[in-house]
Amino acid sequence: MTDWQTYYNQHLSRPPRPLLVKAVSFCKNKDIALDLGAGTLIESKFLLDSGFKKVVALDSSPEIENFAKQLNDERLEVLVNPYQDMVLSPESFDLITASYALPFYGPKGFKEFIEKLISSLKSGGVFTGQLFGNRDGWNINGKNLAFQTIDEAKDLLKDLKVELFKEEEKDGTVASGEAKHWHVFHFVGIK
Ligand SMILES: C[S@@+](CC[C@H](N)C(=O)[O-])C[C@H]1O[C@@H](n2cnc3c(N)ncnc32)[C@H](O)[C@@H]1O
Repeated sequence: MTDWQTYYNQHLSRPPRPLLVKAVSFCKNKDIALDLGAGTLIESKFLLDSGFKKVVALDSSPEIENFAKQLNDERLEVLVNPYQDMVLSPESFDLITASYALPFYGPKGFKEFIEKLISSLKSGGVFTGQLFGNRDGWNINGKNLAFQTIDEAKDLLKDLKVELFKEEEKDGTVASGEAKHWHVFHFVGIK
């Protein structure tokens, strides 16, 4: 069991993320999608239900395999891997979704990671997810996550046609119930 179990317990039966639902409306092709940091696979299931012929779900937590067993869908390929070990071919995906998942790559090499993801999108492919802002409550020493200012976040997406970019800043909680200040950039971009 990983540290994510409390989070997963809270994300077993929620609806798919509204941002992804919107992003899918921009997809012209639905051959193959990548769900990064896929967690409980709710977004992967939504993509399959939306007509994607294949979904690759990647997460470093082995729990993802149990969620995949429950889905039991041969169109789903599950990879238990850290982002850092991903092998991505250029121009491969019609959609990449990374729902609250990208910042966990960490700050080192984050820009190159995003560039690699964008290069693995087909022309017309859709990239969606969240980046964490510099005023996020986790942006403290010792948290090995990637944070951006609004200008840095926009710069990471500069090679895409950005259809949606929304800054959200609020006091809230995390899965454990602990208080947290959230500063998040939600985006949908098209290559
Ligand atoms: C906040 S959860 C988001 C899960 C899901 N996308 C959602 O929206 O509910 C972040 C996920 O990223 C995964 N993760 C964190 N660091 C990772 C890494 N370096 N490589 C792959 N997956 C990672 C975690 O295991 C976790 O499932």
